[in-house]
Formats: sequence, C-alpha cells, structure tokens
Amino acid sequence: MSRGFFITFEGLDGSGKTTQLRRLAAALEAEGLRVVTLRQPGGTALGDRIRSVLLDSRTESELGGIAPTAEMALMFADRAQSLAHVIHPALAEGAVVLCDRYTDSSEAYQGAGRGLGSERIRAMHTAVCDGFQPELTILLLPPLEGSLARARRRNERNVRTRGTDENRFEREGDEFYRRIYDQYVEIARRDSERVVTIAEEASIETIAERIRAIVRERMAQ
Ligand SMILES: Nc1ncnc2c1ncn2[C@@H]1O[C@H](COP(=O)(O)OP(=O)(O)OP(=O)(O)O)[C@@H](O)[C@H]1O
Ligand SMILES: [Mg+2]
Repeated sequence: MSRGFFITFEGLDGSGKTTQLRRLAAALEAEGLRVVTLRQPGGTALGDRIRSVLLDSRTESELGGIAPTAEMALMFADRAQSLAHVIHPALAEGAVVLCDRYTDSSEAYQGAGRGLGSERIRAMHTAVCDGFQPELTILLLPPLEGSLARARRRNERNVRTRGTDENRFEREGDEFYRRIYDQYVEIARRDSERVVTIAEEASIETIAERIRAIVRERMAQ
C-alpha cells in the first residue's frame, strides 16, 4: 500500500493558515502531486455541522453555552470523522493531505485557552485518533496583535457580505489568545522534529516560498 504525506497548518486566528495552505496545495498540484485539503473543524458533512455549532457566536444564545469539555469532545468527534472518512483513505492512496488545524489546535485552544490542560487533550488524542500525528506541522506564529486584528476584520467582513458568523472564539479577550500563543511555543519546543515555526511578519509570497522549501526538503527524506 502506498503512503502519502500528512501536513498540518497551525497558528492563531488570522495567522495566514488558510492562505498558505491554498498556496502550497496549488504548488504541489503544479508538480503533479495529488493533494487533498481539509479544515478542522469541518471537512466532512458531520464536521461541517459540528463546525457551525462550535464557531458561530450565536451558539451561546441559541443552545445555552458549551462546557469546555463538551467543546473539546466535539472537536475530537469532528477529528475522528475526518480521519476515518478523508485523511486515512487519502494517505492510503498516496495523496498529500493538507489539513487546516489539527490536535495542536485543541491543545492550544481547549487545553491552554479554556484551561483544560495539555494532558487531557493528549489523552483524548490517544483515545480518539490513536495518537496519529502528521509528518510535518507548519506553525504560523507572527506577533499576536497583528494576526488577531486581521482575523477580526476578516470575520466582520464575512458577516456583512456572506452572512456567515464564525466569531465565537474571536470574542475572547487578549489573555485567552496569549495563553494559546504560549502553548503553541511550548508544543513547537517539545515536538521540534515535527513542528516548524515561522514567526516573522513577512509577505504572503515570502512565507509561501519558505514553506515550499521546507516541504520539499521533508518530502525528499
Ligand atoms: N503574510 C501576510 N501578510 C499580510 N496579510 C496576510 C498575510 N497572510 C495572510 N494575510 C491576510 O490575513 C487575513 C487572514 O489570513 P487567513 O485567513 O489565511 O488566516 P487563518 O490563519 O486561516 O485565520 P483563521 O484561523 O481565522 O481561519 C487574510 O485577509 C489574508 O489575506
Ligand atoms: Mg483559516
């Protein structure tokens, strides 16, 4: 059985994950590789339902709030579904799978942001995902203030133009995001083989070129 290559993109809201994932997908496809992209939460029909519950800022008023442990469990339910229905099948066929967020996001947002702790997230990852990790994680970690401002502007624009509302997390305060940022730094330190951090503010093109170089080198190994 052939085996593909699994890459995840991580970072705060507005750090450029989706932008860079699309760039990388286009570059790899141009080289003739088969590429499968998805985002978490989302990426499956079930996952899209879970995504709208988790990210919509109207969830609180409509459903009466989500317990942090329920939020964690829903994130992992989504992840289990995309592993079973998208990620594992694509890798088995030899595709390059690019995933916008994965378990590092749960450790950063639910573990540190919501205060559930890394141990609980890592235990869930073992139980639900068999501890399955990507070959490579691109962590986009520019200075906190810039990326948050970008994400908030982008979301306000989407509410106006498309009627979609994914502001539930963006309403959190700066301390919430500081904890997430610090946890990402800790994950990168701990899993230094898997995680490559891009911390500088640079143009989309400059960062895209760096990512292509990193991916080329890792895939050649
Ligand atoms: N290096 C960059 N310099 C300037 N602007 C950028 C850069 N990278 C991305 N942007 C812009 O910042 C905004 C947010 O980028 P993007 O949607 O890719 O972030 P994200 O990490 O996917 O955010 P989210 O987690 O909220 O989905 C977009 O409008 C994008 O065009
Ligand atoms: Mg995005």
